[in-house]
Amino acid sequence: MTLLRTTIRSVFTFNARNYSLNLQTKRPPKILITGGLGQLGVECAKYLRGKYGRDNVLLSDIIKPTTEVLNDGPCIFADILDFKGLQKIVVDHRVDWLIHFSALLSAIGEQNVPLAVRVNIEGMHNVIELAKQYGLRIFVPSTAAAFGPDSPRNPTPNITVQRPRTIYGVSKVHAELLGEYYFYKFGLDFRSLRFPGVISSDVPGGGTTDYAIAIFHDAIRKGRYECYLKPDTRLPMMHVRDALRALSEFLEAPNEQLNRRVYNVTSMSFTPEELADRMVKHLPDFQVTYKPDSRQEIADSFPQVLDDSEARRDWNWKPQVDFDELVKLMVKDVTEKITANGF
Ligand SMILES: NC(=O)c1ccc[n+]([C@@H]2O[C@H](COP(=O)([O-])OP(=O)(O)OC[C@H]3O[C@@H](n4cnc5c(N)ncnc54)[C@H](O)[C@@H]3O)[C@@H](O)[C@H]2O)c1
Repeated sequence: MTLLRTTIRSVFTFNARNYSLNLQTKRPPKILITGGLGQLGVECAKYLRGKYGRDNVLLSDIIKPTTEVLNDGPCIFADILDFKGLQKIVVDHRVDWLIHFSALLSAIGEQNVPLAVRVNIEGMHNVIELAKQYGLRIFVPSTAAAFGPDSPRNPTPNITVQRPRTIYGVSKVHAELLGEYYFYKFGLDFRSLRFPGVISSDVPGGGTTDYAIAIFHDAIRKGRYECYLKPDTRLPMMHVRDALRALSEFLEAPNEQLNRRVYNVTSMSFTPEELADRMVKHLPDFQVTYKPDSRQEIADSFPQVLDDSEARRDWNWKPQVDFDELVKLMVKDVTEKITANGF
């Protein structure tokens, strides 16, 4: 026990010394984002580049970047299943912080379980070892989908029974537990936030909350939307602006302030019907119909309301974009995107 405590203390002192050295020399952290060309990565890079400088945030993925993404800043190939390749990137670019976004999301994961196991679980093994080897601060997003039908659903506390029923949820619980274990065993600076559905104008990656993005695209383009969830399916949600601010504030929070390595964060909860009602104020002719599919069963096992009081208490988390503002921002951003793409 004493040896364990001494080890944790010495790793912490080492990491803390590294970080304070960064602060003393005013060198911003060098950040690598894996799976960075999905819904969250590109916006996250923009946000963090605004804070730490264009060249200090390195986007990576296994898919090809658009010209627009390349013009924004550095973007390289990185397969999270290739450990040596990841080592080379960390060394060559002197990476300090790792934001691990690569994943197959809930609905897509159910369609290809073996691939979800490889990307979400084996990939996690690689990045956590990498972070340990090079003393990186590592952020791995978790999700409301890390809870299951046995969890209290309204509200869902930070610590409660989890037992999810999707491979995505199972892989995220695995990531949470592995990260906490590496923290206690090796002093690894592991941090994780359980995000609700994140709403942005970018193409979503195949999660169960995607309807809340697709509904804006179809409403603006076609004036109607067929929803794959029942009208009264309540799920927790957050605008991307708040999600990225939460990530950034949490990454910067001093270790002494954190009582946990994994926190629930949320902003609001709504149903498809409530969302459509708000949208009609901006798009009066908009019509929505409902045809639930297999995603309904997944949604029925998710929390309806996440309790994020521990994040609010420990590192002062507070959402800023409310329901009305979210709808206003989405109508504006999706309209601009559709106009820019010429259809
Ligand atoms: N978007 C949300 O609403 C939401 C909510 C909660 C948590 N999260 C989490 O945030 C993270 C990012 O979510 P997102 O919506 O941007 O996901 P996304 O599906 O849009 O993007 C994931 C990216 O991972 C990449 N990827 C797949 N296999 C890879 C491999 N072998 N090596 C490297 N990259 C690989 C994909 O090419 C893709 O660009 C995920 O971990 C997700 O679980 C997202």
